[in-house]
Amino acid sequence: MRLDKFVSQAAGQSRSDARKAIQKGLCCVNGTVCRKADAQVEADASVTLGGRPLSVQQYVYIMLDKPKGVVSASTDARDVTVVELVGKNYPRRSLFPAGRLDKQSTGFVLVTDDGVFAHEILAPKRHVAKTYEVMLDTPLTQAMIDGFAKGVVLSDGTRLAPAELSAGGEGPCSAHVVLHQGVYHQIKRMFGVYDAGVNELRRTAIGGLQLDGSLGAGGFRELTQQEVEKIRQESGL
Ligand code: URA
Repeated sequence: MRLDKFVSQAAGQSRSDARKAIQKGLCCVNGTVCRKADAQVEADASVTLGGRPLSVQQYVYIMLDKPKGVVSASTDARDVTVVELVGKNYPRRSLFPAGRLDKQSTGFVLVTDDGVFAHEILAPKRHVAKTYEVMLDTPLTQAMIDGFAKGVVLSDGTRLAPAELSAGGEGPCSAHVVLHQGVYHQIKRMFGVYDAGVNELRRTAIGGLQLDGSLGAGGFRELTQQEVEKIRQESGL
């Protein structure tokens, strides 16, 4: 990345302050003073500012427990967005949600600035599983379970990939769903085929990665290196 971006991210400065410091000769790259703000540096370069070593994480991967009423977007004219919830901790990053949850759905949203990673985990051919806990307005039936396993045909004729549906742990209307693709309003539309409405929808896992139960609504934390690797491996990256 550019040196001014590196310094700004690592030192928590604005881009223009970073540029001024670089032009003053306060910055060394791999032991040599560098006054060019647009010089390209590797993420693992040895960079110092005023003699202090700086290091930057190339990308961040954040697990957020999305509360109700927050939209899965970077900016929105009306509603609070997932990026606004986590963004104050990452003022210099261009974050976005890797995949969406509806405004009234809750649970695991992955927020990142790594476009390649997001694209790969969302790509239909990668089949990264998404797990949901659902509360219906009617009891779960065997016809729904069989239909999901075969592949539901939506009212517009779209045939969906097989999905796993089983009883949830909270009474006859609660269900556990695992999807391997991401179609707009998919779960609501799938249950709609059986005239069942969805009252509550919560995403609890992406691939083998469980939502951290200690976060609570609106809580977030960075994924560990091992967690990022786990998702990468599942998506074949
Ligand atoms: N399916 C839906 O209908 N809504 C979501 O938020 C996620 C999956």
